[in-house]
Amino acid sequence: MNTNMSASPRIGDPIDRFDGEAKVTGSARYAAEHFPPGLLYGWIVSSSVTRGRVTGIDETAARGVPGVVEVISHRNRRQLPGGDDSYKDEMGASGKPFRPLFDDKVLFSGQPVALVVAHTLEAARDGASLIRVSYESAIHNTDFALALAEQFAPQSDPRESQEPERRGVPDQALAQSPRHHAATYCHPAEHHNPMEMHAATVIWEPGDRLSVYDKTQGTRNAQSWLARVFGLKEDQVRVRSEFVGGAFGSGLRPQYHVFLAALAALMLQRPVRVGMTRQQMFTHVYRPPAVQSVALGANADGSLNAIVNNATHTTSRFESYTQTVVDWGLTHYKCPNASGVYTLAPVDTYTPGDMRAPGAATGVNLFEIAMDELAYAAGVDPLALRLVNYADRDEMHDRPYTSKALREALEAGAQRFGWEARVSAPRSMREGRELVGWGMATGVWEASFEKTSARARLAQDGTLEVACAMTDIGTGTATVMAQVAGDTLGVPLERIRVRLGDSDLPESPVEGGSWGAASSGAAVHLACRAVGTQLHKIAAGMAPSPIAGAAFDGVAFGDGHMMLKTDPARRVSLADIVRASGKDCIEAEQAAEPDQGESADKAPKAKNTHSAVFVEVRIDEELPIVRVTRIVIAVAAGRIINSKTARSQVIGGAVMAVGMALHEETVMDHRFGRFMTHNFADYHIPVNADIPGIEVLFIDEPDAEVSPLGVKGVGEIGVVGTAAAVANAIYHATGKRVRSLPVTMDKLLG
Ligand code: MOS
Repeated sequence: MNTNMSASPRIGDPIDRFDGEAKVTGSARYAAEHFPPGLLYGWIVSSSVTRGRVTGIDETAARGVPGVVEVISHRNRRQLPGGDDSYKDEMGASGKPFRPLFDDKVLFSGQPVALVVAHTLEAARDGASLIRVSYESAIHNTDFALALAEQFAPQSDPRESQEPERRGVPDQALAQSPRHHAATYCHPAEHHNPMEMHAATVIWEPGDRLSVYDKTQGTRNAQSWLARVFGLKEDQVRVRSEFVGGAFGSGLRPQYHVFLAALAALMLQRPVRVGMTRQQMFTHVYRPPAVQSVALGANADGSLNAIVNNATHTTSRFESYTQTVVDWGLTHYKCPNASGVYTLAPVDTYTPGDMRAPGAATGVNLFEIAMDELAYAAGVDPLALRLVNYADRDEMHDRPYTSKALREALEAGAQRFGWEARVSAPRSMREGRELVGWGMATGVWEASFEKTSARARLAQDGTLEVACAMTDIGTGTATVMAQVAGDTLGVPLERIRVRLGDSDLPESPVEGGSWGAASSGAAVHLACRAVGTQLHKIAAGMAPSPIAGAAFDGVAFGDGHMMLKTDPARRVSLADIVRASGKDCIEAEQAAEPDQGESADKAPKAKNTHSAVFVEVRIDEELPIVRVTRIVIAVAAGRIINSKTARSQVIGGAVMAVGMALHEETVMDHRFGRFMTHNFADYHIPVNADIPGIEVLFIDEPDAEVSPLGVKGVGEIGVVGTAAAVANAIYHATGKRVRSLPVTMDKLLG
């Protein structure tokens, strides 16, 4: 039950998910659940070679299957505008984006080479199985270890400077430090594995208008991409993604399924659906495998004197995917001498990309294992090590934070967990047959706020509609929008309607980067305030005016009314005000945006969320099965709009981190250049039995500068540091340090 159904909601309340009922009853419809009349089904034929070209496609048998309508490939596709630029999307990397069915070239295993379209899904699938494609294969390499020989420094990404970072004299300082630790860490490729697989239903209308239901994190991004790719005007394409069954970054860039569905719809002038199979979900974006070498020099008390932090991960051969990996370690701790080199290594796969806390899940987690090792090398408690090296300023850019309550998070988390009782020597805590390990780490992520617009509309019956193109990828954006609207205009939840995930609605960026709540919340707040000022003007002119003489500052909104702050009994219902206006509704659209031209690197203050994570594991001494038995995460993320959905986000991130620490690994067969663990039997993710109670503490962190509502966002922080804390707890339990994630049983044996 909602805690306060008829009272208007307040920012901070633990309100139930606004769309929860629609989701659990199945009335929420996802991209592949729209059934326009005459719908055709496409089935994707994936390349079985990794690099080379298609020399022939035998379609005869496929075309003979009853119900098959068309087989589309590069040989007969509709003409497309030339040039690569049209294929670049808002979230694209530098390089030449992949163009599906463009020519005979094969760039990665699983690349779509044909689409079979039929009246039924079964016929399309049957037909696709009968397509015979012949190839001319070229030599490929998908092995990261071999690709390291080809590594290069990314330079051309306009989004961020990739110059090597350096301050002081790190190499010299390293040699002179009395305490040292140096080691190399790595994690494998991981896939997002959202529950809802990528799919699009595209409805063609005369005049080549496309109405698209897509699984995407960005309706506007998908809209403009489709328009440019097919040479259409933006207003010919409408993209809707009202519900998204998880994405974690896999839906940031438009994927090939939506291209194929739109292409077939345009060619056949019919509605077409194309979905990926679970196996095909392993043929596009993934978190790239990474290696990170960390060298730390410290004084006898553990205070850092030198950091050398270098990392490399894969990219595709056609695009340079970059993320922030090494900077975190250089920014996060007080240290006079530091350097970091970041490089990419090309492999013959599709371009890897953002996956929950991209860059930090790699760069912070691996660094935080190294910090744990330094704690032992220096003989300092891991928590004490974080405190002695605590940075009050952003060390890399030498600037203050808008706020940073990590110290409070470390203290609150440690206290809640009972860290004080920890015996520091490995293998020193046990219960029965089990070794007990306690580990900790810190996390850091960006607190971003992106330009976003929203519209608010109050009708004569007192119902309020708020609208924004942003998607809700399962994070609770719709709930947060309703809550901010209700708080601003004093409208009860049951009278609020939220519209989102539609490119026709006011402009929004993709939902990602943990900026959804800060950005859509700010836009909704501004739009509702603008409606509020109009209502105030109208109410002031009513005869008699219930708020006579009161300025806007003198009125409050609550329970569907406007009232005098000084005398709440003098009130008027919002519905009555709208009726008094003589209009059907009072509406306003507003854009919330950060200061002009301020890039995150150049801003006068650093904007970050922080966390302190404490983990307990229990491990059978003979058969080292790791059980995570407790997790406490203290999060400093500014103002929390909804303590319930925010908590869910942090828990979700922590579950993903347990996966990263213990289970997740996409294994590739390099002979075929193909990800082989492409199902949930082979690609292991945590299940309920793997997850203990996770306690989330939100630290009070007032921040008037980070974003208009003081919100920092929590979608990603839960995964950052948590994987390290699990790995560190395993070391504490067993005395065995595993530097390559995931820490599977075989690595603990022997
Ligand atoms: Mo996130 S990786 O920006 O969906």
